[in-house]
Amino acid sequence: MDIEKARKLIRESANLCVLTGAGISAESGLSTFRDSGGLWNNYHVEQVATPEAFRKDPRLVWRFYNERRKNASKAEPNPAHIALAEIEAGKNMVILTQNVDGLHQRAGSKNVVELHGSLWKLRCTECSGICRDMPVEVPILPYCVKCKELLRPDIVWFGEPLQPDSIRKAEEASGNCDLFMVIGTSARVYPAAALPLIPARRGVPVIEINKEPTQLSEITAVSFIGKAGEILPKLLRD
Ligand code: OAD
Repeated sequence: MDIEKARKLIRESANLCVLTGAGISAESGLSTFRDSGGLWNNYHVEQVATPEAFRKDPRLVWRFYNERRKNASKAEPNPAHIALAEIEAGKNMVILTQNVDGLHQRAGSKNVVELHGSLWKLRCTECSGICRDMPVEVPILPYCVKCKELLRPDIVWFGEPLQPDSIRKAEEASGNCDLFMVIGTSARVYPAAALPLIPARRGVPVIEINKEPTQLSEITAVSFIGKAGEILPKLLRD
């Protein structure tokens, strides 16, 4: 049975690498991007999530991110985040997340690589200094205390590369793991979507948990179709 197989793989794994996407935070009440009613159904990516959009209308972009900061600050980690933190307590594990909400860390996970940045960090457009010290609702517009230039969300936007340090850690973890799990991502955004191929090519098993099949489903050893908050806790206990 799939559940038994997945439990055994997790129990016996010494180096676990987990890739997560917006679906893992859906049961915390946060919108995903591409599901019906998702963020990209209600906003145009090119108006709120590109460097050009920020240059053109930083107020609009900041209003979008303030809304997301408010929602994320009210959200609580759900049983899927908590299950991952529990698994991490017993083994060498890295979470590569595309999420910017900070819910893995709030659930207690320590080894988290935020591939697409963080809602809770602002970056100076001039000196690149990072500012974490802002109210949930950022004043529009926010400025750097050092150089007085505009602060932007420290988020990787469309058309921008990932931070070299994040991609290095992600490739290292994907290359060294003995089990890879991919949870709640449509696997449509690269380079994150290609990370599960690194272990799969070495014959390392990949477990997928998602509400619907994805293009990754065909390379997985086990594929669970359902809610992460219901399935993940079951994989922890016999
Ligand atoms: P998507 O919205 O593209 O995909 C979310 C996936 O989660 C879908 O396949 C859903 O079926 C699945 N899902 C929804 N609820 C679920 C649940 N309760 N349990 C399990 N699965 C569930 O989100 P991402 O793949 O994370 O980038 O999107 C990747 C990137 O695209 C994001 O990081 C963001 C976006 O543009 C940036 O903003 C840079």
